[in-house]
Amino acid sequence: MSSPATTPSSATALNLALLGYGKMGRTIAQLAPQRGFEVRLIMDIDVNTGGAGITAENFKGMDVCIEFTTPDAALDNIRRVAQVGCNLVVGTTGWHQHLGEVRKVVEANGVGMVYAANFSIGVQLFYRLARQAAELFAGFPIYDPYLTESHHKFKKDAPSGTALELQRQVQPPFKDRDVPVASVRAGYLPGTHELGFDSEADTVILRHTARSRQGFAEGALYAARWVVGKKGLFNFADVLTAR
Ligand SMILES: NC(=O)c1ccc[n+]([C@@H]2O[C@H](COP(=O)([O-])OP(=O)(O)OC[C@H]3O[C@@H](n4cnc5c(N)ncnc54)[C@H](OP(=O)(O)O)[C@@H]3O)[C@@H](O)[C@H]2O)c1
Repeated sequence: MSSPATTPSSATALNLALLGYGKMGRTIAQLAPQRGFEVRLIMDIDVNTGGAGITAENFKGMDVCIEFTTPDAALDNIRRVAQVGCNLVVGTTGWHQHLGEVRKVVEANGVGMVYAANFSIGVQLFYRLARQAAELFAGFPIYDPYLTESHHKFKKDAPSGTALELQRQVQPPFKDRDVPVASVRAGYLPGTHELGFDSEADTVILRHTARSRQGFAEGALYAARWVVGKKGLFNFADVLTAR
């Protein structure tokens, strides 16, 4: 099975190293062969405490590495992967306050790295649509903008990081009005974000619903193919804009 949106027509299998074999690592390992990757190395915490498994020998022949671990582990992993000269994609969240340091490491070692808090291609395009919609509707004060998001009861943070990013995208043209965000945590609800514009006469809604982790895996693999041969630090939004 292949997706025309994310698989290049002349796909050459790329050798992929995976750091972290939790929910995301497993989803990526499952999808990777269908997207033109050969998973040659998988390292979870048991063989990579403090980044100890990332050696030139283990990474020999790797074209790219994808990292989905924990906020505590990400920084060591990034440093060591850069030092062995392998380009990488980092999906782990919670380390972005160290972006300046990571940029120096990436540049000093002459590698390429893509990072994002959300690797879903659909969500990234939703951000762009949201920004454009906000610019259109802000010209008509009869419409009030609002955001809602719902997730399963196990999700700890509220509002979601995605809802906060949507708010950052849509707020600027509404200079004299706040864009409100409402959150629901209940049952097993699939992750859903809505941007609405409501007037006395009608409502316009843009909605993104995530069905599984596959959307994140698709985006991470897309970024992994893109970053091969590149140098420097890139956000996933830049990668999609560069299309
Ligand atoms: N950017 C995105 O689109 C996106 C999407 C989904 C999730 N995420 C983020 O990605 C990260 C992983 O998510 P997940 O759902 O896969 O979490 P998870 O199921 O907890 O998996 C993380 C795995 O990494 C392992 N690990 C910890 N330290 C390691 C190290 N030094 N080297 C190798 N593996 C190590 C963990 O082992 P132990 O459990 O034994 O510690 C665990 O197996 C989180 O930060 C999450 O917020 C980002």
